[in-house]
Amino acid sequence: MSENLNNENKKVIFSGIQPSGDLTLGNYLGALKNWVKLQDDYTCYFCVVDMHAITVRQTPADLRRRTLELLSIYIASGISPEKNTLFIQSHVPAHAECCWLLTCNTYMGELSRMTQYKDKSKKYGDSIGVGLFNYPSLMAADILLYNTDLVPVGKDQTQHLELTRDIATRFNSSYSPTFKIPEGYIPKIGAKIMSLQEPLKKMSKSSDNPNSYILIMDPPAVIKKKISRAVTDSLGLINYTDDQPGVKNLLNILSAIKGTPPEELVLYYAGKGYSDLKADAADSIISELSPIQDKVQELLKDKSYLESIYREGAVKASHVANNTLRKMQKKIGMIPR
Ligand code: TYM
Repeated sequence: MSENLNNENKKVIFSGIQPSGDLTLGNYLGALKNWVKLQDDYTCYFCVVDMHAITVRQTPADLRRRTLELLSIYIASGISPEKNTLFIQSHVPAHAECCWLLTCNTYMGELSRMTQYKDKSKKYGDSIGVGLFNYPSLMAADILLYNTDLVPVGKDQTQHLELTRDIATRFNSSYSPTFKIPEGYIPKIGAKIMSLQEPLKKMSKSSDNPNSYILIMDPPAVIKKKISRAVTDSLGLINYTDDQPGVKNLLNILSAIKGTPPEELVLYYAGKGYSDLKADAADSIISELSPIQDKVQELLKDKSYLESIYREGAVKASHVANNTLRKMQKKIGMIPR
């Protein structure tokens, strides 16, 4: 097993978000909010995964802006740069190197079965990039380099996590025990926030319809408008059921923000209407996001502070990642440098 270079023998968390679009409420409730809750009990690596983002063509200026904005959102959401390691993926070259070693231990069949790849290949056809195909090997590299125990993500990442576990198990048995087999941490509520316009689909930053998502940086008036336009149904009853996906989604959003179980919310809304539920959902989103938005604006003005965080983060992350990478190279038969 890899020697533990992490702090205090705490268990290790790794997670990341792509700076490929402006962040949504789904990213916040499915991932970020849980990172904040877990940070005191684990040694955490939170990464801005810019190399994942370029699996789809990015405008360079947008990628730069979003990378710094995402780092600011991490900090503004309550992730402490002192307690955790915050860094940018491309600043730790071990990720790309490890990805190659894992790619050579991953099967075409496995990658072809990834639903996210299958969905995207429908969109891009033959001109789909190889990076999109190989994306899960890079995600496996991210996770395995840090001897990660727990990966807090939304539900859409479970298939990639399963593959990470399979690749790690294969490497361990082909060579010798090297990697911990990581577990996913999928929240009970908020793991899959749905589109406000098509509540059977996931809320996604890549959607063409801005009314389908709430962005973390959306101003209060926009949040109110988007929630008031959220698709519900004609039943006029507030129940937590798959038969009413629009209402269920609003209850999930409220529940994830307030920490009140959806069943309790249903009791509270007995006799009330959709406009009450929507008004409360909008208010709770606004009070959750407003302080984060203010802090992000403040942080973005202080580029040298952000630079000090990501530079220090890359040094700390490289130390652990390089150690794992060297072990992998040695086991594979590469001559130590
Ligand atoms: P990404 O950037 O698409 O999403 C970031 C996180 O947000 C979660 N998420 C959601 N949760 C609930 N409801 C939604 N509608 C919703 N949309 C997104 C995602 O599950 C994710 O946790 N491959 C990853 C990034 C990644 C990564 C990693 C994650 C790269 N390497 C290593 C963990 C560990 C991705 O594309 O996430």
